Amino acid sequence: MLEDAWKNFRYHLDSEEQTIDFARCFSLLLKPSDVVALHGDLGAGKSVLARAMMRSLGVREQVMPSPTFSIIQEYEARGCRVAHMDWYRLHGAEELEIIGVRDYFRPPWICLIEWAERAPSLLPETTLHLHMMTAGDQPTCRVVEGRVPVSRGWKGWNG
Ligand SMILES: Nc1ncnc2c1ncn2[C@@H]1O[C@H](COP(=O)(O)OP(=O)(O)OP(=O)(O)O)[C@@H](O)[C@H]1O
Ligand SMILES: [Mg+2]
Repeated sequence: MLEDAWKNFRYHLDSEEQTIDFARCFSLLLKPSDVVALHGDLGAGKSVLARAMMRSLGVREQVMPSPTFSIIQEYEARGCRVAHMDWYRLHGAEELEIIGVRDYFRPPWICLIEWAERAPSLLPETTLHLHMMTAGDQPTCRVVEGRVPVSRGWKGWNG
């Protein structure tokens, strides 16, 4: 298999609004069977990012509860379904195997996974990784880093 070339990116997000705008832009490159791992400390903004992506993928629910306790929240979206996961409370990959998590790694699903580092062995090789970090003096400043296959033709975010 040919190795895909990658486009690396790093953006400063000065406010929650900018995070939401970045998320909208990033979600344009997603397609069914994609798995997005959202990394970052507690409160970094992974859920803000995930909810904004879900909204722009066409999720219409007014309330998108945290999946911290349920592990997985499922949504209907536009031409796909979205599984928002949070693996924070997991103790290992077995729990996810029992849930049948691999079923979500194929169409019609797009998976957005917070704390995916709890069970990295389960992630498909094609997983897209996004890292959110606090940055600077301002409480609303974040940095987001990641990479996407060049073949997706993503133009990047120009917020
Ligand atoms: N630029 C920003 N981007 C995202 N969130 C921001 C930003 N500035 C401030 N915030 C605030 O930071 C908090 C991020 O919370 P969020 O629940 O998204 O974090 P999380 O990474 O999902 O944490 P957890 O690991 O507990 O799930 C929210 O209260 C949000 O309002
Ligand atoms: Mg969260």
